Amino acid sequence: MLTYSFLFALSSVIAVVSANNGCPVFDLSILALEGNSVGVQQVHDGINMYITGNASSDTAIVYLSDVFGIQLVTNRLLADSFGRAGYLVVAPDLFNGMPAPADINGQPTYDVDAFLAAHGPNVTDPIITATIDYLRNEVQVAKVLVAGYCFGGRYAFRFLAEGRCVDAGFVAHPALQTNDEVAAVRRPVSVAFGDLDDLNPQAERDTIETILMDTNVPYSADLYGGAPHDFAVNANLSDPKQKFAKEAAFFQAVEFFKYWVQ
Ligand SMILES: *[C@@H]1O[C@H](CO)[C@@H](O)[C@H](O)[C@H]1NC(C)=O
Ligand SMILES: *[C@@H]1O[C@H](CO)[C@@H](O)[C@H](O)[C@H]1NC(C)=O
Ligand SMILES: *[C@@H]1O[C@H](CO)[C@@H](O)[C@H](O)[C@H]1NC(C)=O
Repeated sequence: MLTYSFLFALSSVIAVVSANNGCPVFDLSILALEGNSVGVQQVHDGINMYITGNASSDTAIVYLSDVFGIQLVTNRLLADSFGRAGYLVVAPDLFNGMPAPADINGQPTYDVDAFLAAHGPNVTDPIITATIDYLRNEVQVAKVLVAGYCFGGRYAFRFLAEGRCVDAGFVAHPALQTNDEVAAVRRPVSVAFGDLDDLNPQAERDTIETILMDTNVPYSADLYGGAPHDFAVNANLSDPKQKFAKEAAFFQAVEFFKYWVQ
């Protein structure tokens, strides 16, 4: 498994390098880093959803955002990018219109603990379950994948458990996950970590990797150098290491899904 993870990391690197040599393995243009989002917001079964991508795809990605929600354009742009990879993408509004403020670090009085307490699994699981039910029963997709970032990363792990009707997942820089939630994973999962992520220091990364190894599910775990928490969504694009990490983590997810979900 370690060898596989290593080869996987290497193949991501080679792909991106080749693209720079005019011989692209991945079409980098599908990933939008800036600009306007192209999807729509619709309410289904009482849940506000950002919907984008390929409406005729039989495979949907449920995009689970960080605390800034679908209100933050970088989350919508990433959902759009998965859409251009060929998927129908649905991102439920996990915070019912009231995400954490985008300039949270500039608001020292913002009560993060209260925000997180108001959005525990008892509140968040039903939103994700309703989204999956909508996709399976009304849209009638054949497969459902999850891609979760930071706050949403924990829920990607949770919904990869038995009986959640999800086929595979991607998790970037997760937050607040418990070991039990990771141990309950029963579907293929790929994880992206940054070595500057204070929520996932080396000990936590090692714990997650060891637990995933013991589950016997197909998994990969890639580590990006110079990448802080939330890099896969909100990288500083002026910093080459962060920009590479964001791009590579996206294609890590796309490649993993293409391989493990046929
Ligand atoms: C959309 O999905 C359909 C059905 O899987 C597929 O045939 C088509 O190539 C996809 N389009 C894009 C642009 O990926
Ligand atoms: C969810 O759980 C928290 C913590 O136990 C509790 O304060 C809150 O009222 C619960 N919310 C709902 C909607 O059940
Ligand atoms: C982004 O990265 C650039 C290049 O390293 C740096 O000069 C700048 O201060 C960074 N911006 C923020 C907001 O951290």
